[in-house]
Amino acid sequence: MEFFDAVRARRSIRKYTPDIVPNEVMEQALDAALLAPNSSNMQTWRIYWIHETETKKKIAHACMNQGAARTAQELVVFVADPSTWKVAQEANLKHLGPNARKDVITYYKVLMPFLYSWRFLAPVKWLVFNIMGLIKPVVRKPWSSRDISEVAVKSTALASENFMLAISAQGYDTCPMEGFDERRVKKILKLSCRASVVMIISVGKRDEGGLAGERFRLPKEMVIKKI
Ligand SMILES: Cc1cc2nc3c(=O)[nH]c(=O)nc-3n(C[C@H](O)[C@H](O)[C@H](O)COP(=O)(O)O)c2cc1C
Repeated sequence: MEFFDAVRARRSIRKYTPDIVPNEVMEQALDAALLAPNSSNMQTWRIYWIHETETKKKIAHACMNQGAARTAQELVVFVADPSTWKVAQEANLKHLGPNARKDVITYYKVLMPFLYSWRFLAPVKWLVFNIMGLIKPVVRKPWSSRDISEVAVKSTALASENFMLAISAQGYDTCPMEGFDERRVKKILKLSCRASVVMIISVGKRDEGGLAGERFRLPKEMVIKKI
């Protein structure tokens, strides 16, 4: 399917048919998710493809058993977890190799631990950014745990959208959900306390009545400002 057709075909579906979703469809879409742009290539997303029936039931229950989860053939949980930063730091350094540019190596060896770790230094980081900001433009965030979590969530949301469009491009449907009990989902998946469940995406074939209504968007003049 052409890119714009896939974008237009994607709708949030609340009721699916019993048709199974082939593994290849899921795998292609998961591969597409991993190609999303992400902050400093730290890939702090973790994606849980819930294929096993009992766990799927538990996750659907944690999604308040809403139709989009209950009738789904597949459920995928998109998690942002900044505590995974070290794995990607080491992998990036290994990928770059010893002959990479010195500033790039320093970026991963010094800046990444400064941002992702040393959380007790949050006030110091805030001070450093804000003093530097008096004389020149600086990136004001991230200095707190909350900021770094936001960084991870942004990248994970982009991976989620790649995933949904890739499913749409293959003729299947999705519904992104934030209507879930995060504490229960984290318990089921044994996630770290720093992890955020960004979205749970259900997958299947749309059933008659699976659409809540006609697509509606605010007029573009209201939301797009050309300056
Ligand atoms: C972050 C996020 C959370 C959402 N949570 C839910 C949800 O819990 N349940 C649901 O039925 N739809 C959910 N939706 C789907 C939206 O309601 C839907 O995208 C919106 O109404 C626009 O419709 P469309 O996706 O068909 O274009 C969510 C969408 C996003 C992006």
